[in-house]
Amino acid sequence: MVIKQVKVVLLTGGSSGIGAATARLLAEAGITVYAGSRRGTVEKPAPRIIPVQLDVNDETSLKSTVERIVSEQGHLDAVVCNAGNGIYGPVEGATDEELRYQFETCFFGSFKTIQACLPVFRRQGFGRIVTVTSVMAILQLPFQGFYSAAKAALLSLSESLSMELKGTGIECCSVLPGDVATGFTAARKFTVAAQDPGSPYRERMDRNLKKIEKDELGGMTPDVIGKAIRKQLMRKHMAIRVIPRIDYGAVGFLVRILPERGKLWLLDLLYS
Ligand SMILES: NC(=O)c1ccc[n+]([C@@H]2O[C@H](COP(=O)([O-])OP(=O)(O)OC[C@H]3O[C@@H](n4cnc5c(N)ncnc54)[C@H](OP(=O)(O)O)[C@@H]3O)[C@@H](O)[C@H]2O)c1
Repeated sequence: MVIKQVKVVLLTGGSSGIGAATARLLAEAGITVYAGSRRGTVEKPAPRIIPVQLDVNDETSLKSTVERIVSEQGHLDAVVCNAGNGIYGPVEGATDEELRYQFETCFFGSFKTIQACLPVFRRQGFGRIVTVTSVMAILQLPFQGFYSAAKAALLSLSESLSMELKGTGIECCSVLPGDVATGFTAARKFTVAAQDPGSPYRERMDRNLKKIEKDELGGMTPDVIGKAIRKQLMRKHMAIRVIPRIDYGAVGFLVRILPERGKLWLLDLLYS
């Protein structure tokens, strides 16, 4: 079988926000989407959206979902690793467990999802891997070091993998959203140190949190990111790294050209 067009997609984190918008936009373009999440629901049922209950931290549920897709559709053309969460707090006083919580879903969950799909893609000689990372993979903010680190690790993995897969017909693209208004803000967890009223970071954390929550809640609609993902999946060859919306793209460019110390000075001024 020669696959040239993406027709069947496994998408993680499909129950809300960016994932739900992406599922809807892909389905409208005639693509069948298996929308996976722990809830196993979709915001708006649609003919080509198939809700699937899965946990990206559970290899068995990922493997059986991939097997189900291949048995029902005969092929799986792309995966969108979008499931994610966030934990907030200073590096000082954080526990291993808190750091692991962040890496578990955002990094290991995406890694396991990719691992579950790769044998199918290799057999087909075709596959598209999209990871939803964040501008915070390239732009670090105070008190969100764990989130930045997990997303930077996933971005690195995607780019290494894209080189490893050269000549296989499998391509990788990472989409780096800026602020998007979704349930992500309300679902954010806080480390024990972040909740300490006597923390030496208290005043700066309070100011910082107010700003990031305001930015997120007043951010882009999830459709902006969904459209960027759809555009990549419909291209003959995907870009390696995509920062949706011109203003965030410009920030990405600035990050590349500013001296590191200048960049951190500016971010600290704006965010703490
Ligand atoms: N919102 C932003 O400003 C922003 C900016 C940059 C990047 N991002 C990234 O965009 C992605 C989507 O986030 P969002 O903003 O759309 O937030 P969201 O509305 O909270 O969506 C997160 C999705 O991930 C799913 N999920 C969480 N843990 C999971 C697990 N272990 N297994 C399977 N599914 C899981 C959730 O569904 P269940 O709870 O049903 O499992 C939900 O569908 C995340 O990777 C996030 O880091 C968001």
